[in-house]
Amino acid sequence: MTEAPSPARMTPDPIAGLEGVVAANTSLSHVDGEEGVLILRGRLIEDLAGKMPFEAAVQHLWQDLGVSAAFSLQPGFARARQQAFKVVPLLEGADAALTVYERMQLGLAALPLGDELPAPVAISGALPVFLAASHRIASGHQPVAPDATLGTAADILKMLTGTVPPQESADALDRYLVTILDHGLNASTFTARVIGSTQADLKQAVLGAMGALSGPLHGGAPGPVLDMIDAIGAPENAAGWIESALARKERLMGFGHRIYRTRDPRADVLKDGLRVLGEENPKIRLAEDIELAALSALKEAKPDRPLDTNVEFYTAVLLDAIGIDRTLFTPLFAVGRTPGWCAHVLEQQQTGKLIRPSSHYVGPEPETV
Ligand code: ACO
Repeated sequence: MTEAPSPARMTPDPIAGLEGVVAANTSLSHVDGEEGVLILRGRLIEDLAGKMPFEAAVQHLWQDLGVSAAFSLQPGFARARQQAFKVVPLLEGADAALTVYERMQLGLAALPLGDELPAPVAISGALPVFLAASHRIASGHQPVAPDATLGTAADILKMLTGTVPPQESADALDRYLVTILDHGLNASTFTARVIGSTQADLKQAVLGAMGALSGPLHGGAPGPVLDMIDAIGAPENAAGWIESALARKERLMGFGHRIYRTRDPRADVLKDGLRVLGEENPKIRLAEDIELAALSALKEAKPDRPLDTNVEFYTAVLLDAIGIDRTLFTPLFAVGRTPGWCAHVLEQQQTGKLIRPSSHYVGPEPETV
């Protein structure tokens, strides 16, 4: 039966997508969508990415959360990688149909959290190992053990390929990991905070956040960005390809953002990182041409909605330029964002408040007897 709700239930409509709703105070990060500014605990993203290693940026983000004050993260993450490698046989025995992302979630679920390392360190240090091992297993290779002498970025590349990477590749990946470390109350971070607010353990919050990140409207976009670049193939095809896609009402991956009404500052941080990888790389040149064509087509198609380049566009280009397989783009996003999720869970738990919004019932009323 489909009767209209009673007048008593006629409460205001919810705000679609919770757009503009403030759901937390945070000292961790601030996204100014009008100005195109991202601040991580008092510092602009441009002053962190490419300026300090991932471990130092995490240490900066985690201050005052009781994790890293007495704990140096370079050896901490290295130790966490070694511990996580003990879980890798479980991943090798898992169903061959599992994706790298699912295998990472499996590894995380099985990760023992002892007393030696704080949980955020153990979890953040483990995911790079599960990513690299899962990729090698899926491609028929033996997992490579972590190397405690390397930083996270260089060791990810070594665990993927078996060889110590060129410095510029490690630097580019390091810049990427810092760039995506934290970003306000995005969908996956909100998910982590909701789960953390129930006092569930940190692993559960990170597992849930990984689920939220995986969708194409969030962290699943960079793979399709590269598919788009490949499908366009040459600068002269860009305008026509984009016009057809928009005519079919498709979204251009790597463009648009819920908060930014201007360029996502992370796009430029990553674009800067490409310069050291070689101006001559033809795919980088092609991507720049496609970006220009997309921006012009979006401006024409949606004159009232500013749609600019987001972080995912140059994520795809940068990761591809250092030889990362596109199936690893979303898994790597999870690796870089995990310390951010952990920080938000700890911050949320400091409030002691359960997140439990209300819904507006629009279903049928029970029959009165
Ligand atoms: N290409 C074409 N049209 C777009 C795009 C796009 N990339 N993004 C938004 N639009 C259009 C929508 O179709 C809609 O048009 P309509 O009003 O005619 O229906 C209008 O702009 C508003 O779109 P919404 O979905 O309401 O805006 P929202 O703020 O919810 O969307 C989002 C943000 C999901 C990121 C969107 O811009 C998008 O889908 N982009 C492509 C996917 C992507 O790049 N995701 C990564 C985001 S960055 C990150 O999460 C790390």
